[in-house]
Amino acid sequence: MSQPRKRIGLLFGGRSAEHEVSKLSAANVLRALDPDRYDIVPIGIGRDGRWLLCDSGNGGGRGAKSLEIPEGSPQVALLPGGAGEMIVLNGDAGSTTLRLDAVVPVLHGPNGEDGTVQGLLELANIPYVGSGVMGSAAGMDKDVAKRLLRDSGLPVVPFLTLTPRTRVDYQKAADTLGTSDLFVKPANMGSSVGVSRASSPDEFAKACDRAFSYDSKVLVERSVTGAREIECSVLEDAAGEIKASPLGEIVPAGSHGFYSYDAKYIDADGALLRIPAELNPDQARRIQELAAETFKTLGCEGLARVDFFVDPQNESSLFVNEVNTLPGFTAISMYPKLWEAGGLPQSELMEVLIGHAIARHERRNRLALV
Ligand SMILES: Nc1ncnc2c1ncn2[C@@H]1O[C@H](COP(=O)(O)OP(=O)(O)O)[C@@H](O)[C@H]1O
Ligand SMILES: [Mg+2]
Repeated sequence: MSQPRKRIGLLFGGRSAEHEVSKLSAANVLRALDPDRYDIVPIGIGRDGRWLLCDSGNGGGRGAKSLEIPEGSPQVALLPGGAGEMIVLNGDAGSTTLRLDAVVPVLHGPNGEDGTVQGLLELANIPYVGSGVMGSAAGMDKDVAKRLLRDSGLPVVPFLTLTPRTRVDYQKAADTLGTSDLFVKPANMGSSVGVSRASSPDEFAKACDRAFSYDSKVLVERSVTGAREIECSVLEDAAGEIKASPLGEIVPAGSHGFYSYDAKYIDADGALLRIPAELNPDQARRIQELAAETFKTLGCEGLARVDFFVDPQNESSLFVNEVNTLPGFTAISMYPKLWEAGGLPQSELMEVLIGHAIARHERRNRLALV
């Protein structure tokens, strides 16, 4: 017997530096959702934070490279406790309602990947794809994530956390971390925004000013010189089974010293994805195990991409760099590509993710309320 079609809200855009990337990811996710099984309701979050119903503008969105948020689209709001009921404000024509069965948040960075939107979806009591409030927040904040990982004995690059009140100078940071080559980054960001390398007092002061312009918490790390960057996609199914994908390697190309914002998005030849990564089988297995451990340690759910540094001088020396709980999902992004390499096409990947969202929601609603 065929199942009733589900109405899925596709949340994209958002108030972060990764607004445009999210539009590309959302177009790709839309293409991967089976139209025989799902009615898709694209909801664009503007840079001002308003949620807009983008149905009309994206009716033919299946072929589009990027989803758009047409100006003048009706504003919508999910009702707290509404189990998916959404109000659509149609201006002078008044308001209507629309019921969603689940939400797929395709939002990267702060105000989307960090637990804020997840909290709103919890209050709306609707199933949604991916980590909950805690896993999202822990994964977004590099300081919190690294402390949790370190506490569980997982390998992370030595780091210092600075606030405007606890800033240190270059010499102090270099002495504490035992190296002259440092990386400075905002604690809560993504896409390499605000990330710089510093190996002199002058560079360090500039790098800190830059990072502090994005966040009031900044990490200073030991640089893993010439690090190979290996990534692993982790997926949890409806039964709670956690799997790690084959591994991929990012190879920054051209003049990009590291995997910077330009190498990621501006320069089409800025980086190569090598799938599968060339690693000896024991090391690959070790990285997959660490990816699953990282996922569990940070309380991630549904999906996450776990990124590693491997020291080329010493292959057994590897570090968990960071976790992305809503990783890039464009046609050329690592997360879906790695699952394809693992034999899971994107349409099936979406089935697993939505299946997990619905099963988790049912489990949560069965918990005793005291
Ligand atoms: N400690 C480090 N050693 C060497 N390279 C680093 C280090 N930290 C960051 N990088 C480089 O900067 C890039 C972006 O840093 P990352 O911590 O992944 O932040 P984002 O969340 O913005 O992706 C990495 O992909 C890597 O190329
Ligand atoms: Mg990164």
